[in-house]
Amino acid sequence: MLLDNLSRCPASGASIPPRMRMAARLHPSRFGNIPDFTARPPCILAAECADLPVNNLPHHRAEGISPLSTAQSPVQSLAGRRVLLIVAGGIAAFKTPDLVRRLRERGASVRVVLTDGGAQFVTPLTLQAVSEDTVYRDLWSLTDESAMGHIQLSRSADVVLVAPATANILARMAHGLADDLATTVLLATDKPVLVAPAMNVRMYEHPATQANLALLAARGVGIIGPDDGAMACGEYGPGRMVEPLSIAEYLAGWFAAQAAPKPLAGRHALVTSGPTHEPIDPVRYIANRSSGKQGHAIAAALAALGARVTLVSGPVRLPDPPGVNVVAVETAAQMLAACRAALPADIFVAAAAVADWRVDGAAGQKLKKREGGGPPALTLTENPDILANLSAAGPDRPELVVGFAAETNDVVAYARAKRLRKGCDWIVANDVSPATGTFGGDRNSVHVIRADGTEEAWENLAKTEVASRLATAISDHFVNGKK
Ligand code: CTP
Repeated sequence: MLLDNLSRCPASGASIPPRMRMAARLHPSRFGNIPDFTARPPCILAAECADLPVNNLPHHRAEGISPLSTAQSPVQSLAGRRVLLIVAGGIAAFKTPDLVRRLRERGASVRVVLTDGGAQFVTPLTLQAVSEDTVYRDLWSLTDESAMGHIQLSRSADVVLVAPATANILARMAHGLADDLATTVLLATDKPVLVAPAMNVRMYEHPATQANLALLAARGVGIIGPDDGAMACGEYGPGRMVEPLSIAEYLAGWFAAQAAPKPLAGRHALVTSGPTHEPIDPVRYIANRSSGKQGHAIAAALAALGARVTLVSGPVRLPDPPGVNVVAVETAAQMLAACRAALPADIFVAAAAVADWRVDGAAGQKLKKREGGGPPALTLTENPDILANLSAAGPDRPELVVGFAAETNDVVAYARAKRLRKGCDWIVANDVSPATGTFGGDRNSVHVIRADGTEEAWENLAKTEVASRLATAISDHFVNGKK
């Protein structure tokens, strides 16, 4: 059934607002096909879009729970893992019964703390039914306190997961407030904390929220998402909570990574990421479309294998990867200085899209338009080549230097020549022609060319998967001496 064709939910009679139908037209894969109402009832979609409290709708008990999938066998298990799930007050809270179910079908036990805001979107009874455990709500409840005090509750799990993590709870976490049971538990816990942000795109992009996320990431809080997509409020962009199935998969992968051997322990990895901004004057700059997703994912993957990672990043809109030391820079000259300051390192991965040129003698004051004077002539001068520089760093040269080659044509041939010209050991060649969507996108297809000239193609993978394969290849080099 196409939601696009409906003006009312056939199940509840709730009207589906025009912007919801517009979103369905624009993003049919997300909204268009609603095979049955149990999977994702249109009245809930309508409520999402209209900002209506879902539990005011006639059949809200469905609350987005999909039928048990027997066909799909979980890839990674959560057997024996204890998850304390904190449900905060965002519309995405209606997905948490499904999240509980997804975690439990992988073998986890789930105990829920529900905030007052969260209870506006999902009932305690539903969460109690799906978790088969008490749902904790009140800091001052004698029953809960006598049965389990908040300190004990905060330590009764292997991990604390906040989903949805609203801008408000992230701010309270970042600043150490403890004014309800959820934030008290978060302040008292000695367990790792993961958050799945969910909020309006502007709230997510607000510098206050970004600063709070950066602060939490620097303290080791894991950040899952958010996804890009149509918002309940009709806007589009980053801020949607990652889907329950993906959160469960992430958590399973996260536990596996915690338990995994750390073959790069004791190694220092230096990674560059993102674009550089080269000033024209104090308000204008030359830049490129690099998002930093690939470089940041490589930093995270190397850290997951136990390396101490320094990530020198140009301006990006990404949270700092957990457990990574991030040095923020703007220009190529600053990036080179920060890289040299971070030496010695065992590994150098140059994933940044460094601007090749900067403006010679950037203006100290804003350039003004002059009547009849025409546009200013900008003289460009070449930037230092950071990869070539560190490849030739003499005794300070990292043992393994990996460059990237961004090409739009003759990808492998150009990359082979670039490897020799820059003096790096390996080069990762990627096609960045506009049709591939690599720049700014989430996927990448690469060719890895090694020091011995051998070449491997890794086609159409998530950038996180490219990162984890590269990190594994790097650890193979150090552990098994693989060239
Ligand atoms: N790189 C660098 N410093 C620069 C330019 C590039 O460290 N000033 C690094 C990139 O991080 C990447 C590699 O060099 O690892 C290749 O970058 P790429 O943009 O593909 O090549 P360029 O050197 O810019 O050459 P061209 O633009 O001619 O392809």
